[in-house]
Amino acid sequence: MSKRVIMAAGNWKMNKTPKEAVEFVSQLKDIAAGAESEVVVGVPFVCIPGVVEAAKGSNIKVAAQNVHWEASGAYTGEVSCGMLKELGVNYVIIGHSERREYFGETNEMINKKAKAILESGMIPIICCGETLTQREQGVTSEHVRYQIKIALLGLSAEEVSRIVIAYEPIWAIGTGKTATNEQAEEVCAIIRQLIAELYGSDVSEKTRILYGGSVNASNAKELFAMPNIDGGLVGGASLKLDAFGKIIRHYE
Ligand code: 13P
Repeated sequence: MSKRVIMAAGNWKMNKTPKEAVEFVSQLKDIAAGAESEVVVGVPFVCIPGVVEAAKGSNIKVAAQNVHWEASGAYTGEVSCGMLKELGVNYVIIGHSERREYFGETNEMINKKAKAILESGMIPIICCGETLTQREQGVTSEHVRYQIKIALLGLSAEEVSRIVIAYEPIWAIGTGKTATNEQAEEVCAIIRQLIAELYGSDVSEKTRILYGGSVNASNAKELFAMPNIDGGLVGGASLKLDAFGKIIRHYE
């Protein structure tokens, strides 16, 4: 079994101006240098050119937070994979619960986006996760399996071995109420099991599955040590150099 590299991915959401972003990444470079984790910053579209430039010569990779699935056309306000790829983007976060809730992103759209991202040579970070009500109703497993099964429709085994999935229980996002290590591990294991059912265990052992939801400098180490958790998708704590640095270097 090949070892999966732990990923520390920041999702800045709608935070930091282009100037602030460049300053942050310039300082993050030193903290991230030589880290065992793969370091990713998910920045607003307008910050991408500056951040890619600032990250040059470092081990920091850049993610976008959304993309349209079409290559071009009359889609006012949207951005294509080709545009992101040309700027030097490596990853694209798709299906975040905030985009599902406020911008009507559906599982079918997420599937189209995943295909387009992979075809363009980038890697999707596909988010999933249940609401508090769904958890209380006992349908977390069904819900997450449903979301991921549709997101992966038509993807090849080789593609699925390269993607990243982020399990983010909605009740844990921005609330300071982190899932317990066991709760996070349980759902990440369910997702890995689903991939094994669909693509075989050779593939499911390669796919990285992150946990997201109030990850911080003090809980990252234990969460990332769980067998099926391959790192974190980090919101609030990724905006602070000290906290994100500690998450990147959780193993020290
Ligand atoms: P917080 O880490 O702020 O809870 O956000 C998690 C998240 O939504 C990352 O995508």
